[in-house]
Amino acid sequence: MINSKIVNPSPENIVTASRILHDGGIIVFPTETVYGLGADAHNDFAIQKIYNAKKRPLNNPLIVHVPSLENAMSISIFSELETFLGRTFWPGPLTLVLKKKSLLISTIATAGLSTIAIRVPRNSIAISLLKEFGKPVVAPSANKSGEISATLPSHALDLAKDVEMILDGKFCDIGLESTILKCENNNINILREGFITRDVIKKAIIQKFPKINISFQSSSKKVISPGQLTSHYSPKSNLRLNVLIPKKNELYLAFGPLPLHANGFSLSEKKHLPEAGRNLYKFLRLADELILSDTQPNKRSIAVAPIPNISLGISINDRLKRGATKKK
Ligand code: TXA
Ligand code: MG
Repeated sequence: MINSKIVNPSPENIVTASRILHDGGIIVFPTETVYGLGADAHNDFAIQKIYNAKKRPLNNPLIVHVPSLENAMSISIFSELETFLGRTFWPGPLTLVLKKKSLLISTIATAGLSTIAIRVPRNSIAISLLKEFGKPVVAPSANKSGEISATLPSHALDLAKDVEMILDGKFCDIGLESTILKCENNNINILREGFITRDVIKKAIIQKFPKINISFQSSSKKVISPGQLTSHYSPKSNLRLNVLIPKKNELYLAFGPLPLHANGFSLSEKKHLPEAGRNLYKFLRLADELILSDTQPNKRSIAVAPIPNISLGISINDRLKRGATKKK
């Protein structure tokens, strides 16, 4: 069994992490969104380890991480609009689903599709690692499939027995997974909502691409991004949403100050959506741990305050809705 270790992201440890990737191992590294579970994108065997560690279905493709738009262009085909989106939002919390070009990228990573999801992260540790490694790195979120993403290095310990190293990047800045876009004809399809909202995308493109429509992938269509699956991001405890007054047996995640008689945490005392987004997974995990360590676990569940369904609130509510959906 491989021992896991949370280490500081010193230049020496970045070199070691890169060597582990070269040797076909898997490691955890921080990004500005959530922690990623990384492997060499050219190595089928290493990528299989990721699917095994996460218990992830093989038909759920991975995001390939590269340090620049130029690197992305060497492995996929960009239209003018896609190039514009890359130039505008990279490095940053955006993933583009593009036409795959490189034959070196593992077909397991892309689940045999002709498309490839690519992201240029902006976290400096992630960028250093990608530059040191010199090849694309696949990285799903560093959590078991269907569970809550990791926003602190300790969260990634769920995968401890399978990973060789966890690079400590402290608390992730954004705390929600990247926005995933797929451009088709005159349409930008939002496959997964994230920190970069529809309004922000619209504002960025409106002058240069006034005719482009931006839509959310309708749930009636075939599921093509499992971030769209109904049950995902789930705590182990029951989750009740849009709760103004929590019950006695519930831990409460407030939006605004925590009510006097409630037991729980505030996602943002000042009702600041980016702060609530950043804190969401941390407090869901914490509430879950408190409930599961309770002597009467069946008597407690998590209740969450209503979150305004505007801008980043849309992404937060998307995660909450899926988190509250019981697995079939
Ligand atoms: O913020 C993030 O995106 C993080 C960090 C680590 O970069 N990664 C992440 O990966 O959230 P993961 O595996 O948890 O989510 C990747 C999503 C999945 O829903 C997957 O189905 C979708 O990307 N995806 C990957 N390739 C795709 C493709 N070719 N077409 C459509 N969806 C794709
Ligand atoms: Mg994930």
